[in-house]
Amino acid sequence: MLPTPDIKDLDFNVYEPSEDSFLLLDCFEQEIKFLKSYFQQKSPIIIEVGTGSGIVTSFIMSNILPESIFLTTDVNPHAITTCRKTVEYNNSQFSGCFDALQMSLTTGVRKGLVDILVFNPPYVPAEDVPEIPDSERSDTWLDLALLGGSDGMVVTWELLNDLDTTLSEKGIAYILFCARNKPLEVQKIMESRGWKVDVVISRKAGWEVLSILKFYR
Ligand SMILES: C[S@@+](CC[C@H](N)C(=O)[O-])C[C@H]1O[C@@H](n2cnc3c(N)ncnc32)[C@H](O)[C@@H]1O
Repeated sequence: MLPTPDIKDLDFNVYEPSEDSFLLLDCFEQEIKFLKSYFQQKSPIIIEVGTGSGIVTSFIMSNILPESIFLTTDVNPHAITTCRKTVEYNNSQFSGCFDALQMSLTTGVRKGLVDILVFNPPYVPAEDVPEIPDSERSDTWLDLALLGGSDGMVVTWELLNDLDTTLSEKGIAYILFCARNKPLEVQKIMESRGWKVDVVISRKAGWEVLSILKFYR
């Protein structure tokens, strides 16, 4: 089993790594052979959307594809600070390219550039997706980590609808779903748009069933 990054002094405004985060780590541990041979000598550009504590990116940087170019994004400014600290603490040997930017999804990223996209989204069904607080001192930043609007899918669909322009020709997206997101329906819709979709890993977590789907051309 590959080592899990340490998260030091987690800010209470930032999502604490949980079953869903650990499922992503297991997903990448399972995919390591495939990813190394798929990208061979190339340094892929990896973007983690909604990085939170940065645990997933730090894990990939240490254990899976250390020669990559890394970018993380989050709407939550506290997450950006925490992600930077996590990478600094766990990946001190990393001398490649890494940045963490406060922004929604991949809005500022050049189209067609992303080789690997990772997203553990706010997937809990809720009446609405919360507004982005207008002050860093607000105590509602954490709501953005969880509440995903109708079917818990509002933020995820925003990303999926843009996948074609975001990913490079060989690009792959790894996205986490809970059962209430109706991942099999999502799979059918994306397949009807020409995407290949695999369920990489699935696990019961309390009363939730979480799975990670892989989208590629
Ligand atoms: C379930 S948490 C996952 C955190 C971390 N990736 C993990 O696996 O532990 C979802 C994260 O997405 C962020 N988020 C929510 N909406 C977003 C958006 N539109 N763009 C970027 N990040 C977003 C939240 O602030 C939160 O950090």
